[in-house]
Amino acid sequence: MVALNKYLYSMRYIIAFIFLLICCSSCYYDHANLVYPKTSCNITGITYSTSVTAILSQNCYSCHAGTASSGGGIKLDTYTTLMVYVSNGQLISSINHTGTVPAMPLAASQLSACDISTIQTWINNGSLNN
Ligand code: HEC
Repeated sequence: MVALNKYLYSMRYIIAFIFLLICCSSCYYDHANLVYPKTSCNITGITYSTSVTAILSQNCYSCHAGTASSGGGIKLDTYTTLMVYVSNGQLISSINHTGTVPAMPLAASQLSACDISTIQTWINNGSLNN
């Protein structure tokens, strides 16, 4: 009987420990993007035609493409016109909100850290028309 009591007593700690583990691990997975931000951003195999245009079309083309007049005449929807702002450094300044040029996208929240590093990586890799 004494042995059984001791056994049950120690089981309490084991159960409490397991419970604690489950609590902690569920917290991690609820906030996986905050705890492991890098795993959600893949910056390998970045190309102009897929990665860069996807970000720009979603966030910038509404003002900076085709016949849009809300972008101050600045066009970012072709490789040639985009390269003007890659070469003079204004593309990267505008999305990094460094204050040297107006922060973009205008009157909207900043691009995600992953989108910014995608564009930065494309530029670092030589801003190819690939
Ligand atoms: C709501 C409209 C709007 C959106 C969306 C927008 N822009 Fe702009 N952008 C403007 C306007 C207007 C200007 C001209 C601002 C000025 O010169 O005062 C401008 C200027 C620029 C410039 C030139 C900077 C300079 O010297 O003025 C760059 C580069 C630029 N935008 C990049 C972007 C990028 C990249 C995005 C998307 C991440 C974006 N913009 C989204 C309206 C927009």
